[in-house]
Amino acid sequence: MTVTKNAIVLDGLSKRFGSTDVIRNLSASIAEREFIVVLGSSGCGKSTLLNVIAGLERLSGGRILVDGQEVQDREPKDRGCAMVFQNYALYPHMSVADNIGYALKVAGVPVPERRKRIEAAARTVNLGDFLERRPSELSGGQRQRVAIARAIVREPKVLLFDEPLSNLDAKLRYDTRMELAQLHRRIGATSIFVTHDQVEAMTLADRVMLLNAGRIEQFAPPHELYNRPCSTFVAGFIGSPAMNLFAASGDGQMLRLLDGTAIARHGHKGEVVVGIRPEKIIADDDGIPAVVRHHEDLGSHAVFSVNFLSGQKAVFSTSLGANTVAPAAELRLRLPSQHLHLFDSQTGRRFEN
Ligand SMILES: Nc1ncnc2c1ncn2[C@@H]1O[C@H](COP(=O)(O)OP(=O)(O)OP(=O)(O)O)[C@@H](O)[C@H]1O
Ligand SMILES: [Mg+2]
Repeated sequence: MTVTKNAIVLDGLSKRFGSTDVIRNLSASIAEREFIVVLGSSGCGKSTLLNVIAGLERLSGGRILVDGQEVQDREPKDRGCAMVFQNYALYPHMSVADNIGYALKVAGVPVPERRKRIEAAARTVNLGDFLERRPSELSGGQRQRVAIARAIVREPKVLLFDEPLSNLDAKLRYDTRMELAQLHRRIGATSIFVTHDQVEAMTLADRVMLLNAGRIEQFAPPHELYNRPCSTFVAGFIGSPAMNLFAASGDGQMLRLLDGTAIARHGHKGEVVVGIRPEKIIADDDGIPAVVRHHEDLGSHAVFSVNFLSGQKAVFSTSLGANTVAPAAELRLRLPSQHLHLFDSQTGRRFEN
């Protein structure tokens, strides 16, 4: 039997600011070496969750265990967590080496050991040749790597990242994201990474914790969020363009749109929300008629915004190449039943199917 050790246990966390509940009874276990991405829209409580774990904010209730030890009453420096922020906040007058080693100096680590650990941390983030530079002599990506080195030099049990890539331009974001993934494979520190960028979440995470107003909506590997969203909230959040969601009803044999148009054979009875990803819809001469409202050619693929005759809107995307769909005023579209997701029209929860 393999026993996976939990590096972090969040047990019934709550955080209130005045009368506002920001984190609501949040529980989760995170395994050693796991890379967790906390994803959610602005204001849903991502930074607050990270801050209570780091000890920068006090909890209103609940327990936090790091390596089996309750830490919620400990000082930030005694929790075994190191944090990397969006604005890397380096000391401008200090060299890269001094920035990386500052916490060790404060902790009274002797110079020779400090030197060794600084050099090792700098090498880990590929900054071994930059130790004598000032932050102003570095690119944004290099500065963020100094901030990461400053966190790992303390050999924390847990690395916490709050949107560390959001100040970087698109190209550098991509490069730094790749470096972060490689870094995690090398050092394997348990990591919690906050972002509102679903691409970062999908590419970096072992598991994604999707927050909705301070609660966990779904906590699962990226492919599961994508392929088996547990609610219409997740379905609409993950994927770009987002999953189509249609109000529909079933008579036990057929699912139909609001105007009665048959969309797929299915045994469901009653009202239902039907979801399908834009890329799973197929152009087919025997399909449902749809009027094209807008068409975007993105080179590798095209995205069509359409209206069905019921007035219900849909987005359809198709890769360009062999099966090019020409821009047209009308399309016929098929919604293959194996790619449909069914959700409860009252609660938005997924029906197991
Ligand atoms: N110190 C504070 N006092 C009062 N309210 C706060 C405080 N800090 C955060 N909040 C509120 O808590 C909620 C969650 O904030 P938080 O910073 O955790 O969001 P977030 O998910 O990190 O958002 P973003 O993506 O914009 O960074 C927000 O409504 C915010 O206004
Ligand atoms: Mg935030």
